[in-house]
Amino acid sequence: MKTAIFAHRGSKSNRPENTLSAFEEAMHVGSDGIELDVHLTKDQEVVVMHDEKVNRTTNAKGQIKSFTVNDLKELDAGSWFSPQFRGERVPTLKEVLDLLSDFPGVLNVEFKTDHNVYPGIEEKVVRLIDLYRSNLPVVYSSFNHESLIRMKHIDPSADVALLLWERLADPWRYTEQVGASAQHLWEASALTETSAQLQEHGIKVRAWTVNKPKNMQRTFEMGIDAMITDYPEVALDLRKSFEEAKALRR
Ligand code: G3P
Ligand code: MG
Repeated sequence: MKTAIFAHRGSKSNRPENTLSAFEEAMHVGSDGIELDVHLTKDQEVVVMHDEKVNRTTNAKGQIKSFTVNDLKELDAGSWFSPQFRGERVPTLKEVLDLLSDFPGVLNVEFKTDHNVYPGIEEKVVRLIDLYRSNLPVVYSSFNHESLIRMKHIDPSADVALLLWERLADPWRYTEQVGASAQHLWEASALTETSAQLQEHGIKVRAWTVNKPKNMQRTFEMGIDAMITDYPEVALDLRKSFEEAKALRR
């Protein structure tokens, strides 16, 4: 089994995160998966951004939930990263789904419900995916595990993954209790014996955010199911070399 490469917030290292440019680049380099973060606007539109506030990644200030989608669309979500990306907009989830119409990989939607509640966000996301890309494999993750439990109530077949910083004791028990198929574990927690324990119990492990080549290599050696990285192109190149070296040893 090859370690899958998921592009974190798109190709975050060389494009403004969570924008259509970042997702285009992630697809262009051949990422196996794309991770993005979702919030709700004041008028209940699902939009893609990491922080609760627009301050860091746009030219304005304030909470996403206090902007209407039209107001949010006025903002520049690219200049903060580089003048080359001036005019890049904050995407709605629908726009991302349109962009991913031919994407053969997996979409990882992270519900950013750990600071703001966003009532109903889970249903809205499911409805959008059903409407615009119903055949797209989706993994739902969140640090707010209640969001994942809500997802399982909405759609018992939904693929959900616990986002965690820390390793748990008997980690498979809690994972099974929530109905999750995977743990998305902070890199330092994933690069331990916990990953093999989870995998022995049929639970997948995806490590985040793996950016150092040394740790990418370790992730391949350990047979971790996937890594979420800001550098998908680097990770894909390294994986190619790793797989070629492995084939030669056979
Ligand atoms: O889903 C992995 C990773 O994105 C979790 O942290 O803060 O980058 O959303 P964050
Ligand atoms: Mg995230």
